[in-house]
Amino acid sequence: MKLPESVFNELADNLAVKGWAVTDDLFAADLLQEFLKEEMLLFKNGEFKKAGIGKGTEHKVVSEIRNDYVHWLDEDNLTEFQQQFWLQMQELKQFLNREFFLGLKEMEFHFAVYPEGSFYKKHLDRFQRDSGRTISCVLYLNRDWKDGDGGQLRIYNNETYMDLIPVFGRFICFKSDEIEHEVLPTNKERYSITGWMKN
Ligand code: OGA
Ligand code: MN
Repeated sequence: MKLPESVFNELADNLAVKGWAVTDDLFAADLLQEFLKEEMLLFKNGEFKKAGIGKGTEHKVVSEIRNDYVHWLDEDNLTEFQQQFWLQMQELKQFLNREFFLGLKEMEFHFAVYPEGSFYKKHLDRFQRDSGRTISCVLYLNRDWKDGDGGQLRIYNNETYMDLIPVFGRFICFKSDEIEHEVLPTNKERYSITGWMKN
């Protein structure tokens, strides 16, 4: 496990150079396991909604574009483990603000479950009428993910792309207004926590 400061530094450097960054060293395995346990329980108990696209009155569920399920975290009612996640994200946010003067303020996060066969077509995370989303973050919680399990995050860069496997503990962040990306069809239930740092 690397020191948090060096992980943050590496993330910040890559964000600046490429517009996206990845690390497998942001959270300890026992904490990740607690996140996964909570997410699986909430999903089993029916506490998820079909995810949509667009914001406010433009929000709609479009299954041809995405067909995952989400459960939003409530900043005022975080569980003990969610609080640890939130604090780590706050640390990262403050680090990015110090490095890049981004002026990031609010954060929003949800658990996401992609059932077998689901996907999210190529898109940008920034809404058309709300430019608040600045840094996108995803933490993956899938144990023993294999190549054939699908569900890769495809990150586009002009004509080329890079596929990242959603393995347990992998954390990805990218510039919400720049990086086009896609979730390839998954062959297995796929768990993650996704969110945005906003200004
Ligand atoms: C999203 C998204 C990526 C992923 O929720 O906007 O692009 O890998 N998620 O789950
Ligand atoms: Mn996205």
